[in-house]
Amino acid sequence: MPRPASTSPGPAYLLGSSAGERQRLLAQGDLLRDVARQLLDRLPLADQARAIDVGCGPLGVLDLLSDKVGPSGTVVGLDNDERMITWARESIAALDLVNVTTALGSLPCDAEPLFDLTHCRLVLINSAGPEAIVASMVAATRTGGWIAVQEFDWTTWQCEPPHPAWDRLKFLLASVFGGDVHIGARLPDLLREAGCREIQTMAYAFSWRPGDLYQTLLLYFADLFAERIRARGINPRTLTGLTQELGRHLAHPATVVRESLLVQAWGRKAR
Ligand SMILES: C[S@@+](CC[C@H](N)C(=O)[O-])C[C@H]1O[C@@H](n2cnc3c(N)ncnc32)[C@H](O)[C@@H]1O
Repeated sequence: MPRPASTSPGPAYLLGSSAGERQRLLAQGDLLRDVARQLLDRLPLADQARAIDVGCGPLGVLDLLSDKVGPSGTVVGLDNDERMITWARESIAALDLVNVTTALGSLPCDAEPLFDLTHCRLVLINSAGPEAIVASMVAATRTGGWIAVQEFDWTTWQCEPPHPAWDRLKFLLASVFGGDVHIGARLPDLLREAGCREIQTMAYAFSWRPGDLYQTLLLYFADLFAERIRARGINPRTLTGLTQELGRHLAHPATVVRESLLVQAWGRKAR
């Protein structure tokens, strides 16, 4: 199986590659597994198909792609972070995904068109250059092949009942996050501008309650980005006060978190 051409590491992943982030990504993958499978079910592939998961992290959708292409097909897990690739290899071995290999790096803008399906999930939202990544994904896809992306749009991310600490922390986080937190809404345009046709889209909204892992995701991000938030001139005591207040609100049995909208978009490389 030929490999994607670039081994250039590219910019560092904004959320880091700590053991905690690995666990978070694996847990998130479990939460999003069913809707990822539904996306892949919409994309017909011929026998011996080649698929790639760009920015696969510690697993991404490699297990689902492995199943999708079957024993005659092949899958590449690509990530530009060495630790993520090590963890992806561990997942592949643990799940015995014999048709999946990995590569360290990112796709170059002039990638060879090797793939029948090029997928990424939650890579663009963390990137300062999403257009270039989508363009490289299209370049890496064979004419008539599929490009599929899944990204969040923070617009709908809210707690009920609302709380001022939520609004303040969400606003602060969006300003230091580094990527476009509303990129989900832009996916069809990004695909179109990169040369895809027959573009379709689907969106999913989840909601959480106290005890659910993602009930407190905003607090996890607030901790992860605390230094950047403080660098914006926010007093550390103000930040601690906001997170404590919000922690109490989110722990209340009546508080529900409406998750960011998960937007999926897919299209074909124009003939
Ligand atoms: C939020 S994680 C998502 C991981 C996985 N796609 C999933 O859904 O669980 C983003 C991953 O993309 C990788 N990444 C970011 N930009 C990349 C790029 N240009 N090329 C390859 N990997 C990239 C990061 O190292 C990180 O592992």
